[in-house]
Amino acid sequence: MLSVVVLISGSGSNLNALLEATENPLFGAKIVAVGSDNPADGLAHAERFGVPTFVVSPGSFDTRENWATVLMANINHFKPDLIVLAGFMRILPSNFVGAYSPNLINTHPSLLPQFPGGHAVRDALYAGAKTTGVTIHIVDEGVDTGPHIAQREVEVLPDDNEFELHERIKVQERELLINTVRDIAQNKINLAAISK
Ligand code: GAR
Repeated sequence: MLSVVVLISGSGSNLNALLEATENPLFGAKIVAVGSDNPADGLAHAERFGVPTFVVSPGSFDTRENWATVLMANINHFKPDLIVLAGFMRILPSNFVGAYSPNLINTHPSLLPQFPGGHAVRDALYAGAKTTGVTIHIVDEGVDTGPHIAQREVEVLPDDNEFELHERIKVQERELLINTVRDIAQNKINLAAISK
C-alpha cells in the first residue's frame, strides 16, 4: 500500500476526491495525513475521514528553509512514500524538494509549460487561450517546471469567467489526479524513470 501525504492551502476539492477514491482498499494508496500552510477549509475533509492533519505556517519562521524543515518533520512522522501537492500555494525551497523529489507531485490548472504560477486560470483567460487544462507533474526546484506525468485539455468557452473555467478544469483535474495516484500505487507510472 502506497502511503500518501497531501498538502493543501484552500478548499481541498482535489483532496476530497482522493480521500473518497482511496477508501477502496483495491486502489493501492492510502492518505496517511494532510498538511497545510494555513488553517485551510479543506482540512475538514481529512477530519471527516479520520485522517490526521497538521498546519505549519511560514509566518512563524525566519526563513523559508526553517519553515520547510518543520514541515518535513511533520510529514516524516507519517513515513509517506509519496507527497501530493493538491492546491498547495507555496513555493517549496530546495531542502524540501531535494528530500522528496521525484516522489513529490503537483497538480496545476493549465497545460504547462503555459501559464505557470499562482494565477494560471486567470492568465489563460487574459491571454485569450482557446484551450487550457491541467498538468500533473513531478516537483523540481523551479516554479511548475518539473517533468510532466499527465495532462488533460479543457476548452475555454467564449463567455467563461475565472470561476467557471476553474470549476470545469477541476472536474478533469480530480479524475486525472486520482488516476495518476492509482497508477503510481500500482507501479504503472514510475516517477524515478520520468524524472531522468
Ligand atoms: C487546483 O485547481 C490546483 O490545480 C490549483 O489550486 C486548485 C485547488 O483546488 N493549484 C495551483 O494553482 C498551484 N499553482 P482545491 O483546493 O479545490 O483542490
